[in-house]
Amino acid sequence: MRIRGIWVGGGALAIATLLSFLIGPEAFRENRASPGIGNARALQASYERWKAQYERTEGDRRLVLSLGYSKGLSARFTRAQGQIRLDLADGTISVEVSGLGAEEAFEVWLVDNRPGPGRSVKPEPGDAMLRIGSLKPKGSAATLETRLDREQLAGFEIDLVVVARAGETPVDGGLLFGSPTLYQRIYYSEQAGRLATFAQRGRASTVTSRPAASLFSAPFRALIPSPAYAQQIDLATVLAALVDQGRALFFEETFNGNGRTCGTCHPAENNLTIDPAFIATLPANDPLFVAEFMQALSKNFENPVLMRQFGLILENVDGFENLETKFVMRGVPHTLALITSLTSPPGPGPSERTGWGGDGAPGSGSLRDFATGAVTQHFTKTLKRRPGKDFRLPTDAELDAMEAFQLSLGRQSDLVLSGPGALVLKFAGMGVPNPEQGKVLFNSSAKCFNCHVNGGANAAFLPANFNFDTGVENAPHPADSTGEPRPRDGGLGRTENSNGSFGDGTFNTPTVVEAAVTCPCFHNNLAKTIEDAVGFYTTTAFSDSPSGSIVGTIILDPPQIEDVGAFLRTISALEKIRSALDLADKAKGASNLGQTKKLLRLSIDEVGHAIKVLQDPGLYSAAVTHLEDARTKLVEASKTKNKAERDVLIDQAIAAEVSAQDMVQ
Ligand code: HEC
Ligand code: HEC
Repeated sequence: MRIRGIWVGGGALAIATLLSFLIGPEAFRENRASPGIGNARALQASYERWKAQYERTEGDRRLVLSLGYSKGLSARFTRAQGQIRLDLADGTISVEVSGLGAEEAFEVWLVDNRPGPGRSVKPEPGDAMLRIGSLKPKGSAATLETRLDREQLAGFEIDLVVVARAGETPVDGGLLFGSPTLYQRIYYSEQAGRLATFAQRGRASTVTSRPAASLFSAPFRALIPSPAYAQQIDLATVLAALVDQGRALFFEETFNGNGRTCGTCHPAENNLTIDPAFIATLPANDPLFVAEFMQALSKNFENPVLMRQFGLILENVDGFENLETKFVMRGVPHTLALITSLTSPPGPGPSERTGWGGDGAPGSGSLRDFATGAVTQHFTKTLKRRPGKDFRLPTDAELDAMEAFQLSLGRQSDLVLSGPGALVLKFAGMGVPNPEQGKVLFNSSAKCFNCHVNGGANAAFLPANFNFDTGVENAPHPADSTGEPRPRDGGLGRTENSNGSFGDGTFNTPTVVEAAVTCPCFHNNLAKTIEDAVGFYTTTAFSDSPSGSIVGTIILDPPQIEDVGAFLRTISALEKIRSALDLADKAKGASNLGQTKKLLRLSIDEVGHAIKVLQDPGLYSAAVTHLEDARTKLVEASKTKNKAERDVLIDQAIAAEVSAQDMVQ
């Protein structure tokens, strides 16, 4: 077995070396897709951290998936939720579902999505499907315990676990869905020896996994599908290819729908979000406005008044069965630093926290599944939302790629705001708010750190992304004066309330490092500026809320609100400068002028965001001067054809940005 392991590693290494001689690793990658935001190397480091944690929780021996309603795949809306546990050593499966109701019978299926024309992530005729048993009532839940037969499953891969109405197949009768995430797919591929892995440091010839041996200890690992591109040389190459493909899909793919892409609402040049000012720059025929020019979408799809004035998007988060009244109006969150904000608290619920409710993704609730719901919600040509007619659903390979790309965006870890190595901010100027003082308040009497530890989305008492009811729905909203319908938003979950909302009233904590450049803030875009968002916490809407009664009243006088705002502006600006530097560096390495220009354009945008967020309250004016200088140099560089001259200009811009950083921290 060892011999085989070494041979596999050695063979792949030889191919890798040969390829890099022939075309160079960069060219190998960049010929595939246009460059841009997203960083595959950072993603790999995050994966390695995830893997260490996953092994500590025995993920190497047990696969656990959440099962839930899927906006996109389910035959009808349901509040039921469940979980499946698969023991990878002996093939035992246990499924538990609650909320299905006793009047119908249900069966559990495994689906292997087979590629082919017109095929997608949805179970379709031609996919391999295996019924593993019926759910039996047990207390208020329904359960199934069974054991898989390895022989019967040769060559089968579990793309989906489906709970379907008895007597129907997952094609028409599927209600609850779950699927392995990208990281799980990568992990089990490594373990099963289908993805060659190499130690990154030193001599690259050490094979880090012993494929055959570990497969022997957990034979059912082979059931977990490999990610797209797993046939590539090594993990770094696989991830780079996935990120490139994911970027192209995110910004260019319309999924045969109404013309929108993910980038329509999450544009790269505007921090992956939209706001009224950005919306005002778009032409009338931009696909964001499909409700204004496509007859079939003119009612119950978007609200053009609330979209244009407040940047609000219509979401049927609680099912599509009553479009007239069952919807909520939400702001578009940026999709930056997602990797820091996905960790679900222990207990039942979606496997990862996404969207304002924390349960934005359909099916298992993971980021990978988010795209299925987004396409169904936003890309459709008619309100019938028929997959294959009004849009096409993504394939498994596309979901892998989009997940990789999204995970690679923005920060890959949280800041350090207290203790050894903590960020210390310098004097920001005479007569302007004090960011360092704002940081101290954030971490003490203003109580922000409780829920946004280190400026992120996780709680101080447990490293997970919690939901809270901070009372945002109870604050008066400027949109109320328009008279446009804006049903009460119930946040997480689907329980029906007497006030007509669905959910438990809590919302998912977002990161705040990115907030100052992405306001309007909160799920309903209530706060126009970052200072408005900070000020919200001093209102009775907060102090009377369930969270307010736990953490207590937050007292900040107007100058202190400005200080906390200045702190949040400064950390946003530092993050934008980091991103601008990353893009400038990529621009130097790009293989042709078109790609260089595109990367420089993005870098210029990032510098612009840093300038604006500091300039509004007059923070760090000397650093802003350096940033303006950097921007001028980058603009010049983007007009310079000669590579050597262009690189000199880019280096000057980089130096100016580093000086700006030094003046701030
Ligand atoms: C019409 C605008 C629009 C389009 C198009 C759109 N989104 Fe979104 N996106 C939103 C809104 C609104 C939310 C908040 C939804 C919620 O609260 O569940 C959101 C939330 C998200 C989130 C959650 C972010 C977080 O912080 O948890 C992700 C991820 C995401 N979108 C990805 C996508 C992908 C992938 C696509 C393309 C397949 C896409 N979006 C297309 C408007 C859009
Ligand atoms: C009890 C937990 C809790 C505390 C304490 C808390 N937050 Fe929040 N924060 C949240 C939640 C939950 C949201 C999302 C609320 C919503 O959209 O309805 C949020 C949203 C935000 C946002 C909006 C981010 C965006 O992208 O829209 C900002 C900014 C913010 N908080 C800053 C602060 C500051 C500053 C403090 C301290 C004064 C603070 N928070 C205290 C839980 C908390």
